[in-house]
Amino acid sequence: MKQSIKVRDAISRMSYYDPPLENRNPEEHLLMDFNESPLPPHPAAVKKIAEFLSKRVHSYPVYGDFLEKLADYAGVNAENLLLTNGSDQAIDVILRSLLESGDELTMVQPGFAMFRQIAGTLGCSVVGPQFPADFQFPLAELKASVNEKTRLIVVINPNNPTGTAVSREQIEDLLKTFPDIPVLIDEAYFEFTGKSSVPLLVSYPNLIIIRTFSKALALPSLRLGYVIAAADYIVQLQKIRGPYDVNLVAVLAAREQLLHPEHWQSVVRHLMEESKPALEKYFDEQQVKYYASAANFMLVEPENVAEATAYLKEYKILVRPMSSPIAHTFRMSLRMLPDMLRFMEVYSSYLKT
Ligand SMILES: Cc1ncc(COP(=O)(O)O)c(C=O)c1O
Repeated sequence: MKQSIKVRDAISRMSYYDPPLENRNPEEHLLMDFNESPLPPHPAAVKKIAEFLSKRVHSYPVYGDFLEKLADYAGVNAENLLLTNGSDQAIDVILRSLLESGDELTMVQPGFAMFRQIAGTLGCSVVGPQFPADFQFPLAELKASVNEKTRLIVVINPNNPTGTAVSREQIEDLLKTFPDIPVLIDEAYFEFTGKSSVPLLVSYPNLIIIRTFSKALALPSLRLGYVIAAADYIVQLQKIRGPYDVNLVAVLAAREQLLHPEHWQSVVRHLMEESKPALEKYFDEQQVKYYASAANFMLVEPENVAEATAYLKEYKILVRPMSSPIAHTFRMSLRMLPDMLRFMEVYSSYLKT
């Protein structure tokens, strides 16, 4: 069909990223499909949001001392930080700063879909090795995929959707082997492991880290992410991100989350130290295959993914069936123990069908 407005070829060739959100109802469903926090942010954050909405939406954002607070949290200086509208926008500005049409980004597959989406808008391709069947990180294969077209190496740590943890040594190996290629570490799930590449920043100027307030910090609807990198690179990124792309309500809520870490940290501890071992024990007892994960989600391999996920959905539990090459799995997010027990109850009745 003839387009009313002719867009760039790179765009017209693509389809849009369409996560399965339709009919998803937080009031009705047990949400285990988007790796969200099971609980809302600290009451002080909710209060700030309400105050802001009643008084300040009609003026442009004033971010105040938030960058300094975030710098303390991340263990860097404020000049090493760029706030973004979700880490999706961090990916966008970084790729736009580095890639020309025809360039390549390499990362182990499958990984988070937005990298391919944004690279596509720039006429660039995402290449790289597949995870092996046990989902261990294939460092040698990733290194072998780097060629003269590679402008960016991406490592998601821990990886979504496989839950794979990548060690400090493996990351340092990449930074050292390819000193002229930027290496982007996506730490969206960092708070669930406590293991960051930030200490490597002083030694490796080619390191870029991105993080988000959407996962452990429980603010996905407000859209706040950030880049951590060398100060001179942050200045370049500031030319791409708009001055007010980050909304102030997100920053005010995030500030409260940083001021009250015990709130979200106790949720993280509960998920990782209670919910996850309980779920693993349950799957072991039921002889259901799953893949150990470093994050707040895991891949599960039932005998029939379509049947298992449809059954769960019938009982109002949403998980995420994966697509090729891991279509033999579904991804499920951890929730508080009572919800995990509900999952187990429903899954046991499914196993008896
Ligand atoms: C690995 C990874 N990176 C980035 C994001 C983007 O998160 P947001 O744009 O909400 O910060 C996600 C979201 O699922 C993710 O899994």
